[in-house]
Amino acid sequence: MTNKTTTPTMAPKAGVIGWPITHSRSPLIHGFWLNKYQLAGHYDKIPVAPENLETFISGMRAAGFSGINVTIPHKENVLKLADKTTPEARAIGAANTLWFEGNELIAGNTDGYGFITHLKKSAPSWSADEPAMVIGAGGAARAIIYALMHEGVPEIILTNRTRSRAEALAVNLLKQQDLSNKDHHPIKVIDWEEKDAALSRVNLLVNTTSLGMAGNPPLKLDTAPLPAHSICYDIVYAPLETDLLKSARQRGLIGVDGLGMLIHQAAPGFEKWFGIFPEVTAELTQHVIDDLA
Ligand code: ATR
Repeated sequence: MTNKTTTPTMAPKAGVIGWPITHSRSPLIHGFWLNKYQLAGHYDKIPVAPENLETFISGMRAAGFSGINVTIPHKENVLKLADKTTPEARAIGAANTLWFEGNELIAGNTDGYGFITHLKKSAPSWSADEPAMVIGAGGAARAIIYALMHEGVPEIILTNRTRSRAEALAVNLLKQQDLSNKDHHPIKVIDWEEKDAALSRVNLLVNTTSLGMAGNPPLKLDTAPLPAHSICYDIVYAPLETDLLKSARQRGLIGVDGLGMLIHQAAPGFEKWFGIFPEVTAELTQHVIDDLA
């Protein structure tokens, strides 16, 4: 008779690090999937202060983590602490998802994936063959513009209250893509005051600013010049319907809210850590909406 000793396999462990971390919805999303697929795994909120980031990252493996999500203020700083970064994370200059490949810690960015997946699902009629307009020049705008460039959008009209931030974003993104010296590159920065006049040329308008978010003033923009086949995408998800989306929908345009981007960006990380590519369903969306309420 052989005497087999079985080593108990540890349930995979992941989580989200940030400072502060109280408002993160990620545990709700990953918890829903762990339960749905009946997986033994853990996903927790992990408060990590900036001065403890390096120690946390270098100790992740020993602490039994399969990987983590990363949120503010660590998204940029984790890039230099990982062993490798994906082309997306490098171009965007920030990571939101970390996982191990062998002994190496990889830093990736799934925000652009979340944005584009939700767009294609919500607005199957969208075509990447026409210009798009992106409002805002923060981290979300970087990921979204990268995703639109990757889809082959011929012109991305970028406008921000602080024009210099939009210009810096364009220069950095194009440098990463090796397009900075090309006469024809897709990003065209325009003045904040010029945005209304440029609307008639786009089939996709994306608000990436915090305008319209609960507690903030609305984004004041007349959607009337947008072509009838255009799509209005607001990455704000609280409230789910901003004034901008309401006005676009009243015109009969397709309005896309920011909640789907938040949920879809979580899926690739879940697969890396727990082994199943999870489905984004109406039930999960409602689960998050209930929590937001
Ligand atoms: P994130 O990384 O989440 O995208 P961020 O870096 O704080 O967030 O960017 C917020 C965006 O909202 C910026 O484009 C900001 O414009 P500025 O670069 O001029 O600050 C924009 N924003 C915030 N409040 C605004 C306001 N009242 N009017 C116009 N734009 C505003």
